[in-house]
Amino acid sequence: MCRYGATQCACQAQQVSAAWVCEICPATIAAGDECSVTGMVCGGCTCLPAWLPGGKRAWTFNCDSATGGTSGLDASASGGSNSSSSSARGGSNGFVDTTAAGGSKAASAGSSKAGGGTSGGGAATTVSANTGGRSAAGGAPTCDESTVGTSPNTLGVNVGSAQHPVPKEIFGVLMEILGKDINGGIYVGKDSSIPNTNGIRNDIIAGFKEAGVGAIEWPGGCAANGYDWEKNTNPSNTMGTDGFMEFARAVGAEPVLVGRPKPEFAASNKKWIEYVNNNPSHPDWAVKYFKIGNEVWGCGGDLGTNVATYEDWYNEHYPLLNTPVNGKSLFLVGATGGIWTVNPNTSNWLTTMLSPGHLADKIQGIEVHDYIYYPDSYPCVGFNENQYYDVIWRADEGQMGPRVKDLRTILDKYDSEKRIKIIEDEWGDWLEAWNASDGWLQQNTVMDALSAALTLNMFIANADRVQMAGLAQAVNVIHSLFLTNSSSGGKDLVKTPTFYVFKLFVPHHTGNAKWAPNTLSSEKITGNGKTFSVLSSGATVNDDKQVNISLANVDLTKSRDVTVTVTGGATRYAMAAAQVITGPAKDSYNDFGKPETVNIQPLPAAGYQLCGTKLKVTLPPKSVVMLTLDAS
Ligand code: AHR
Repeated sequence: MCRYGATQCACQAQQVSAAWVCEICPATIAAGDECSVTGMVCGGCTCLPAWLPGGKRAWTFNCDSATGGTSGLDASASGGSNSSSSSARGGSNGFVDTTAAGGSKAASAGSSKAGGGTSGGGAATTVSANTGGRSAAGGAPTCDESTVGTSPNTLGVNVGSAQHPVPKEIFGVLMEILGKDINGGIYVGKDSSIPNTNGIRNDIIAGFKEAGVGAIEWPGGCAANGYDWEKNTNPSNTMGTDGFMEFARAVGAEPVLVGRPKPEFAASNKKWIEYVNNNPSHPDWAVKYFKIGNEVWGCGGDLGTNVATYEDWYNEHYPLLNTPVNGKSLFLVGATGGIWTVNPNTSNWLTTMLSPGHLADKIQGIEVHDYIYYPDSYPCVGFNENQYYDVIWRADEGQMGPRVKDLRTILDKYDSEKRIKIIEDEWGDWLEAWNASDGWLQQNTVMDALSAALTLNMFIANADRVQMAGLAQAVNVIHSLFLTNSSSGGKDLVKTPTFYVFKLFVPHHTGNAKWAPNTLSSEKITGNGKTFSVLSSGATVNDDKQVNISLANVDLTKSRDVTVTVTGGATRYAMAAAQVITGPAKDSYNDFGKPETVNIQPLPAAGYQLCGTKLKVTLPPKSVVMLTLDAS
C-alpha cells in the first residue's frame, strides 16, 4: 500500500492503508479547478495541495494555457519505487534534463546531508527530477536561466556574504515545572507502561532529536525562582537535575539552568554548577548557560523597574559564578525589565544595566520574554480571520521583529562588538486554553506553525545577536511541540504543526550552517486592518555549500510565486529536498488517535523551476516551504 506523499500512480490519502489510484488527465484544465491527486502533472498544470473550501486540492501552476495532456504520473506503475516518472516531470516544464534524472539526487533526499529528509509520516521524501539543468555528469547546464519565470515576489540570497553560524540554541524550548509539561508530559516515571528511559518518555526523547531541539531551559520560567535543586537531584516522582541533564545530553541539546536570584541563594547556585560541571559520576555533563533569576521584575522578586536592586543581587552571584568549574566557564544571563520597557529612546532597565559602571562587563546575555499574548481572548482553535492575521502580523513585522530591532539598537550602542547576546528564552503564541481540563494546554494549529516559521526566520536573520531562543513550552503548555493525552493515560502523543516547523528548519542549524543575507521583495497583504509582507524568508549555507531557503506564504487563500536568485556561491544548483507544511484550514491540527492532518510533505516538482542559480517556487496558501539546494 502507499505511504505519505507517495506517487505510484498516486496515493489518494495520507495513510498507509490507502489505495493506489492511477488517474488520467482531464481533457481540459483551468487553474483553480478541483483535482484529486497531489503532485499529479497534466500538461503544464500540477495538482497542488491548495485545499479549496471543503479540503480539496486545485490545479495550479502554468494552468492558464493548459488543456490536459499526458499524466505526470506513471499510469502503468504497479510496484517498485515511489519516485515520480522523470520523463513526465521533465516534459512538464521544460527545465529538466531528463538524462540527468536517474543519476541525480532525485532519489536521495531521504538520506540527504540536508537533514530532516523524511516526511512527517516517516516515508522517504520525494525529491523531484528537477536537477537545475545539470547534465548527468554534472557538466554544463542544459537550460537557460532566463527562461525561469519572473514573479511578483523576488528573493536574492547572497551566499558569498554568509558569516554568522546559526546557533542551534535558537531552536530551543522552555520546559518548566508547570502544567503537564514535565509531570504528566515527558515524565511518566520508571514504572510506567509507556516506554521510557529513567521515567522520561522514549517517544519524546526521539521527537526532540527529530525536531533538532538545540537547547532546553529548566526548571522555569517562574518555577525556577523557588526551585530548590538540592532537594531534587534525583527524586523518585519527577525529573530533577540528574534527569534533566541526562535528558538534555540524550537529545543533544544545550542545557540552560535558571537559578533563584536573591543573594541568599548565590552559594547554592554555585554548588549547583559544581554538582553538574564537576560530577565524578557524569564527567560528560556540562552546563554553559545560567540565568540569574526569571522575570525578576515580576515573579522573580517583584522588582518592577528597580534595576539597582537586581544589580546588587547579580553582584553577589558574579564572583562565584564567573569562576570556571572544572575548566568549564559559564555564559551568564542577566534578567531585564519587561519587554514593554525596551525602548532605544528612553532610559530604562536595559540601558541602565548596560551603562558604564553597571553590569555590561559581567553579563554575556540578556533575558528577553516576548509572547503573542491573547490568553483570554483568542481561541487556540476556531479563531477568526482577523485574529489569524493579527497573530501572523505580530510574529514578525508587527511585534517580534521590531522588538528585536530595538534590542539591537540598544545593544549596538553599548556593545558594538556584539559580545552581549539576546537570550529570547520565552516566545510563542499564548492563546486561550483548549478546554477547561487544563488552563495551560493549547491546541497547536497551522497558524501557530506559520507564526513560528516567521519568528524563526527573523531570529536566524539576527544570528549575530540572538544566541538562544526558547519556544514556550515544549510539551502540553502554551505553544507546544508535543501534546500528550491524559484521558488515554498519557499514552497518545501528538506532534504539533510547530514540531514540523522545527523539523523542517533543521538544515538551518546543522552542518555549520551560516545565515546568508537575503533580500525579499514581497507583495503585501492586508488583514485585521494591517498591511504587511505576505511572504517571509530565511536562508543559510552550510559547509557542503548546500543552500537552505525557508519561505512562508501567510495568505489564507492564494498561492504566491517567488523567484529566487542565489549569488556568491556555485554556478549551478540542483534540488536536494523540497518540502512543505500546510493544512486544510488555518486552524487545522493533529489530533490524538487520528492520521496527521498537518506535517511535512514533498513539494511537488512542478511547484518549482530551477536552472543554474535561479529558482521559481509556487508557495501554496498558508504554507511553510523549505528548499535545500546542492551546489554542483
Ligand atoms: O511560560 C509561562 C510563564 O510565562 C513563565 O513561567 C514565566 O516566565 C512567563 O511569565
